[in-house]
Amino acid sequence: MKNRFITFEGIDGSGKSTQIQMLYEYLSEKNEKVLLIREPGTTSIGEKIREILTDKKNNAMSYMTEALLFMSSRAQLVHEIIIPALKENTIVICDRFIDSSVVYQGIGRGLGKEFIENLNQAVTCNIMPDITFFLDIKPEDVWLRKIGLEESDRLEAESLDFHSKIYNAYKMLASKNKNRIVTIDANNTPEVMHQNIIDAINTRF
Ligand code: TYD
Repeated sequence: MKNRFITFEGIDGSGKSTQIQMLYEYLSEKNEKVLLIREPGTTSIGEKIREILTDKKNNAMSYMTEALLFMSSRAQLVHEIIIPALKENTIVICDRFIDSSVVYQGIGRGLGKEFIENLNQAVTCNIMPDITFFLDIKPEDVWLRKIGLEESDRLEAESLDFHSKIYNAYKMLASKNKNRIVTIDANNTPEVMHQNIIDAINTRF
């Protein structure tokens, strides 16, 4: 399996980090060259942008500013990391990518799906994930799991209504992009989810 670009999507707390780590270990054990990255962030410029985006003090941030900061982080990541890694035949696994902006800023914040898709196209130089895993769990189920466990950042602190909007947007996106987006039932145990992810990868590639 060479120069594949794999992304993970889902609402906050859907279990992406665990699945990404499990997939990373699985592929590394198979002696694949794998790179793990996250959005927003990874590059030093991107991590600075992440701090601005998640800082609770920045409650004056306009939705447009927010969208463009995510796009700036993405532009830098594609340029500095993703394109060179894919050229070197490395498998790239990215925690969130273009779909996050479509659902959170385009639909959640109401900036418009097409507007965000156009920005995405511009900043990614049309680089698309080969496969995207959408970890499907309802926000109310995540909230039940997480209540009182950890402090939330600026984006996580949004209302349940907002997260429900995001969840529905992901469902819509997944149903419209069945060739690329694979839905994984995130109510299952991490082991079952991992197996479903491996099966999808082995079927595709
Ligand atoms: P992340 O660190 O992946 O949060 P979590 O692990 O809780 O899912 O993402 C940070 C936040 O940024 C998350 O609330 C989703 C949001 N986000 C956007 O709103 N738009 C984007 O384009 C991206 C990449 C993330």
